[in-house]
Amino acid sequence: MITARIAAEDDFDGWRNQCRGLMRLGARPADVVWQVGEQRTDLFASAEASLEAAPIGVPKGFAELARSVICHSDPERFGLLYQLLIDLKARQRHMGDEADPLLRKLEMMAKNVRRDIHKMRAFLRFRRVEEEGGETGGEEHFVAWFEPEHHIVRTNAAFFVRRFAGMKWSILTPSLTIHWDRQTLLEASAKLKTDAPTEDSVEDQWKTYYSSIFNPARLKVNAMLKEMPKKYWHNMPETALVTELIQSARNREVAMIEKDIVPMVADTLATLRAEADRCRRCPLYGPATQLVFGEGPADARLMFVGEQPGDQEDRAGRPFVGPAGQIFDAALAQAGVDRTQSYVTNAVKHFKFRPEGKKRIHERPNVSEINHCRWWLKREIELVKPELIVALGATAALSLTGRSLPITASRGQVFESLEGVPVLVTIHPSYLLRLPDAKAAERERLQFVADLESAQRRLYR
Ligand code: URA
Repeated sequence: MITARIAAEDDFDGWRNQCRGLMRLGARPADVVWQVGEQRTDLFASAEASLEAAPIGVPKGFAELARSVICHSDPERFGLLYQLLIDLKARQRHMGDEADPLLRKLEMMAKNVRRDIHKMRAFLRFRRVEEEGGETGGEEHFVAWFEPEHHIVRTNAAFFVRRFAGMKWSILTPSLTIHWDRQTLLEASAKLKTDAPTEDSVEDQWKTYYSSIFNPARLKVNAMLKEMPKKYWHNMPETALVTELIQSARNREVAMIEKDIVPMVADTLATLRAEADRCRRCPLYGPATQLVFGEGPADARLMFVGEQPGDQEDRAGRPFVGPAGQIFDAALAQAGVDRTQSYVTNAVKHFKFRPEGKKRIHERPNVSEINHCRWWLKREIELVKPELIVALGATAALSLTGRSLPITASRGQVFESLEGVPVLVTIHPSYLLRLPDAKAAERERLQFVADLESAQRRLYR
């Protein structure tokens, strides 16, 4: 038996080094005991494999798969990957062989890890705590508790650093704590859930807001559960109210009808816009110049939803006025759609970007940001009551339908929004700006125009 030791559960480099040494020794997977950290569990393990060896060439796709699988919580993963590596080298297995049970198992593990990474990004909620110095002098510090299923905290740290670079924050988990002080990322030992704050000073405002916009007549429990799996609810302030709101939804609906109560929510686009202007629940408002709300007639029959404002929209405060907007306008004109008669908005209302010198580079909004902004889009839909919505690209399609739709396969098709409004899916106009091949770009542009024509035809059927 050979003991192969690696430093941490997610230590991909350590695992790779050990594999190199093991392969040089000709060790068979069945003869290797993998250990993490200092603990020793196998009494029969006799030799230590810690020899450094020359890199081994691996087939395309293997390293990417292994990097994900290493983060899985299954203790067998190191041995399974080593087995695959040996077999690939001996050409007894091939990456891409969909029928291979070992590859399928590892692919599934990688998928679960990716899903866990995504869940952490979407469902982690920071709470504000005040540091030493009291009400006035204290420095803001944001703390979140999260329980991942796999060893993903280090892998995910770079995302949170990028996303919340200007905030001082800590993420507490049962296996590891990470702190960001706006410059350095530090690691500390595991924490208990009780170490994390359960409420912050804006929590009550958020809950009040959430319950006031919660319209019992439009409750769709399945869609809600799909968007926010129940297991993450305990970390999310808005969900503290959900069970109670669902239970009382029917009674509230009846009471509202009987008493002729108008829900306490903005009832015009102008008041809705003013409310959205004060939204602070996700951090995107911070670096952005201003809110970019939807525009167009309040009784428009057709609504267009984009992803988020770009650089020029952020400066102008209006949707689709930059380069993507120009392509959009030209395509609308060619399709015979009058933009002034349509309501044009975005899934996310603030510009998300990363500064690079003087430039502001567009960044895609994540699921959490899309979900936070969904309230505003939902209210826009409820107020405008369009007959048809056109989703421009994947972010809009996700926000509207709650589904990750592959755009190439779904374009031109009609789905249903979470409110029950038909949604015609098409590409985002900025896609046309990115196509390097002029012929392909023209083909795609004509298809985009055809999608817009089809939207127009549906209105006049
Ligand atoms: N891209 C979008 O999705 N929306 C805009 O408003 C501008 C560019």
